[in-house]
Parts: sequence; structure tokens; C-alpha cells
Amino acid sequence: MTNQSEKIPNNVNLGEDRGLQRALETWQPNFQKWWMEVGPKGFQQNPAYLRTAVSVEPSGWAHFDYVRMPEYRWGIFVVPPASDKKIAFGDFEGQPVWNEVPGEFRNALRRIIVTQGDTEPASVEQQRSLGHTAPSLYDLRNLFQVNVEEGRHLWAMVYLLHKYFGRDGREEAEELLQRRSGDPDKPRILGAFNQPIENWLDFFMFTMFTDRDGKYQLIALSESGFDPLARTTRFMLTEEAHHMFVGETALQRVTQRTCELMRQDPNEDARQLGGIDLPTIQKYVNLWYSVSADLFGGEISSNAATYFGASLKGRDREGTYQDHKALDGHYPMMVMEDGKLVEKQVPLRNAMNEVLRDSYIEDCQRGCDRWNKVIERASIPLRLKIPSRRFNRRIGIYAGAYFTPDGHLTDKEEWERHRDEWLPNESDRSFLSSLMKPVYEPGKIASWVAPPEKGINGKPFDFEYVRV
Ligand SMILES: [Fe+2]
Ligand SMILES: [Fe+2]
Repeated sequence: MTNQSEKIPNNVNLGEDRGLQRALETWQPNFQKWWMEVGPKGFQQNPAYLRTAVSVEPSGWAHFDYVRMPEYRWGIFVVPPASDKKIAFGDFEGQPVWNEVPGEFRNALRRIIVTQGDTEPASVEQQRSLGHTAPSLYDLRNLFQVNVEEGRHLWAMVYLLHKYFGRDGREEAEELLQRRSGDPDKPRILGAFNQPIENWLDFFMFTMFTDRDGKYQLIALSESGFDPLARTTRFMLTEEAHHMFVGETALQRVTQRTCELMRQDPNEDARQLGGIDLPTIQKYVNLWYSVSADLFGGEISSNAATYFGASLKGRDREGTYQDHKALDGHYPMMVMEDGKLVEKQVPLRNAMNEVLRDSYIEDCQRGCDRWNKVIERASIPLRLKIPSRRFNRRIGIYAGAYFTPDGHLTDKEEWERHRDEWLPNESDRSFLSSLMKPVYEPGKIASWVAPPEKGINGKPFDFEYVRV
């Protein structure tokens, strides 16, 4: 049952736990202060056509209406417990799921929840200036939708911290509002969440690649033996699906527009006509894919082994595996040895980050294939590519060595020589910023992106998604 009338909408019977309710109602104004300080810049008083989660029923969990962002009803929603649910993997496979934090895994669980929680407000901070250069009202609305839902995801993690981790949890919840994306003194925990999101191509790449890391982390946690975490992340995934949609379809629309402009220009130069050329799109793919691949952590990881063994963090579609203990399997991996790439058999539990990254890569490739269909239909021979998992890494066994986007080992000199062909350079960035002119008229759109095939919630593209 959802309680919408309370200060904090929820389906977790918050009203029955006065202490917890008071603690969260104390955190609430701090959250609102954070939102006004580092949430979307401007537009806070403009009604936007947003969906709000109101329950977890598959048939009607979202309500669409105009809302001013500070009045968004951020709530706590958890999928109801299943009876007789058993742990699906790890050392505790087959035992009943836990409804309280097991003492021995308290620190590990808190770290998992804090790390996930930290990404949610971080992305809102990263995206805060984009409203001023939105390519259309439709895109502006999608940005705000993603922002308010990341705010709700923060609420989801803060609920777990407050309910299950006592005083430490309350302190962690405060700190989630203190760190700031890109701040050298108090940065967000993970690298990609301190990267600047300067323009809308960054934003679309972020929602395609970085939010998609989020999707796979949530999938892995939705298998957790700690059932409150599993049920919370399970519901977050329904919202996350829209963020994936925003990134993937927007990049398809950008690609489509580029192809149209290439066809129009005698030299097939999309930039000439106010579009983003395919090589620049490729560089942004290279950048955001590689920083997002880092988010999965090291290829060979004792933490990953611990989390899997302790039944805290599972695999994508754990149910499709035969062996849920993963005690004797191996994972063949290309590792660096004496300056060369060699194949090594890594004990499966230690390779769990890589197993999850495999699912992610497959999903990214599927998106990329979709963009390439657009290019193919325009009879243009170029193709976009997901780079090798070894390219431009800062974390794991490939960090510190130099690889081409195709994954070939190279040296620093060679890499530096090609850097500007592989990753966005200053002139690409300034070109993009020259394109970023706001379009706030319903039904109109910027020169560098095609309109969507469909609007939101059955509305047409020319619907007034944000009243500016
Ligand atoms: Fe999120
Ligand atoms: Fe997201």
C-alpha cells in the first residue's frame, strides 16, 4: 500500500516507525537545500511534464503531470517481499534471504550502498547547467525527468542507510549531501561521476554509457541476499529503463541528423551544416564508454569475490547460470605480463567484475548496432564502434598501459600522437559548445539532432513539455 498523504510518500509503512520517520523528515530539508543549491540551474519554477513514482504496481506505478521540480514528490518505494524467497547464489545459496543486515557483512553492505547512493546526486550535479542549452523542450523534459529520478534513487539508498545502519547510516546519508561532483577537496567517490558534462552530447553519452553501468550494478544488487537492498534496486530498475532510453534513442537521433546533413552537403561535411560529424561522435563514444567501463572495478578483484561469496552482489540474470557457487570455474582473461598481453585463467569469483562488464559490453554493442543501422540506411560506409575494453582505462589491469581503440598494445608516444583522433580535443569541445543553442519553442529542435519518433506518454513531439 502506498501512502501518498504523508510528508514522504512511501510503501514501507514509514508511519509505523516513528523514529525512522523523524530521522528521514530531518534529512528531507537538507535534501531540498542540496537540490536548490546544486540541482538544475534555473527552471526550478517552470512546470515540467514529469512522471512521478506513486506505487510499485506494474500496471500503474507512474503518474504524469506538470510539476515544478522542487515540489516533486520524492518517495520511498520497495517491491513487496516474496514469501519463501531463497538466496540465489554464493556461499549462502538456498538459505532464506536476510531481512536484517548480517553482522559480519555490515561494513561491506554499507560500502556497497554508499557507493551506489553517491552516484545518484553526483549525476544531478554534473548535469546541472544543461537546461540553458536544451535542443528542444522534449529533451529538456527528459533531462529533468532523469534528474528528479536520480534524486529519488538517492532517497532509496538513504532509506536503507537510515533504516538498517543506525548512527553510521545517518552520518553516511549526510555525507551523501556534502560531497560534490568534481570538487577537488570533497569529490564524489567514483571517477566518471567527477567528469564534467559540458554539453548535450556528453549528456546523451552519459545516459547511454554511464547510466548503463548503473543499470548493471542495480541488476547485480537486485540479486542480493540482503532482501531490502534487492527489493529497492529492483524497483529502481524500472525508472532506470527510461534513462537508458534517453541516451540510446538520443544518440540514434543525433546520428540520423548527421547522416541527413552529410547527404545534403556536397562534401558530406555535417559540421558545415550545423551537425556533429561521425568522427566526433566516435570520440565521445570512446571517452564515455571507457570511463564508464572503469566503474565496474578491477578485472581481477578480491572485493568482487567477497561480495559474490557473501551472497551480497550477484550476476546479471543469475537464474540462467547452472552453478551459483562459482567456486571451481575459471574465466579466460587477457592480462599484462612482462609488458605483453597473455591469456590467463582467473578463478571465476575473482573475475565477477569482468563477468558483469561482459553483460554491459554486450548491451552497449546492441545500442551501437542500432545507430549503425541508421548510417547504413543512409548509404554511408562509416560505422560507429564500441572501443576495446582495454582502451583508455584508469582502473584495473589495463590501466597504466597504452592501448588503441581496437585493443592493440602500443606505447605512450604513439598513443599521445593519436590522442586527438581518439578522444575529444579542445577544438571538438569548442565546436560542440558553439552548436549548443537553446530551443524552447514547442515542436522546434536544434540543427544537430533529429526529433524523436514519438513523444512522452502518448503526447506529440510539439507538446509543451516544459513551460518556459
Ligand atoms: Fe539512478
Ligand atoms: Fe539513472
